[in-house]
Amino acid sequence: MQIIKSVSEMQSLVGQLRVQGQRIGLVPTMGALHEGHLSLVKIASDIADVVVVSIFVNPTQFGPSEDYTKYPRPLEADTAACEAAGVDYVFAPEVEEMYPKGYSTFVLEEHIAKPLEGASRPSHFRGVTTVVAKLFNIVRPHFAVFGQKDAQQVAVINKMAIDLNFDVEIVVAPTLREADGLAMSSRNRYLTNTQRVEALVISRALRKASDMVAAGERRVDRLIAEATHLIGQQRRVRIIYVSVVDLVSMVAIKGEIVPGKDVMTIAVWVDEVRLIDNQIL
Ligand code: PAJ
Repeated sequence: MQIIKSVSEMQSLVGQLRVQGQRIGLVPTMGALHEGHLSLVKIASDIADVVVVSIFVNPTQFGPSEDYTKYPRPLEADTAACEAAGVDYVFAPEVEEMYPKGYSTFVLEEHIAKPLEGASRPSHFRGVTTVVAKLFNIVRPHFAVFGQKDAQQVAVINKMAIDLNFDVEIVVAPTLREADGLAMSSRNRYLTNTQRVEALVISRALRKASDMVAAGERRVDRLIAEATHLIGQQRRVRIIYVSVVDLVSMVAIKGEIVPGKDVMTIAVWVDEVRLIDNQIL
């Protein structure tokens, strides 16, 4: 496995790989890798000749009061995990390599990125679409794998790839969970034991909603009321949003859901730790 830090080196390398007819798969990450990330790598390995994992804590997707500086950066452990997972190249540029002094171009998706995460984290998706567009241009992958854990990110990137004619197939991977249901996340390591126990209410609320749908419930207000009620029982957990939206457009569903097409998305604060999760209904 090779670790690459320079954009031009990465570009000339993929140029050669493409000439050789190799199928390149990209897994974009911000590091602090867990089993969820590695499940994306596994999916990429199954369909690619060459797997590139990018590790870059992208400053433009963090708000001014968010956890950019404290975001974990265990680069050695991450590269070891990549090596063990059979990754071919880790692309881990410094911030100045991606955003040199005077950098001034951004990619903005203007509809799907507006509600939910977009409403509570203004300019978050502008940073995500910008860095992912750059990664697509640098790594020129045939496909890139993203996790359903970030449902709105998947929807926004899909739309960006269509609108900007990126010749990159977007592959979506299911959410990997801990045995007790908590969705794996790099931010889980911020949780104390007590907070972690309370955080389990998120996946419980999502499971409750999907059980209700399985039992025939279709009314959005009933699904949201039940999930909200459950979460409200935890002292440390504050709801940012509980919504049922269309998987593709992220527009809120009114009235009744259509099973398989709609998703319940939840964002909460567990004390000062912000967590998100979702479940296709
Ligand atoms: P990051 O949070 O590191 O996540 C990298 C990828 O792993 C994303 O596609 C995310 O959806 C996926 N992922 C995270 N937790 C997962 C889980 N429990 N199961 C399955 N997949 C999971 O998302 C980002 O980084 C950034 O926004 C990025 C796309 C890299 C752009 O900077």
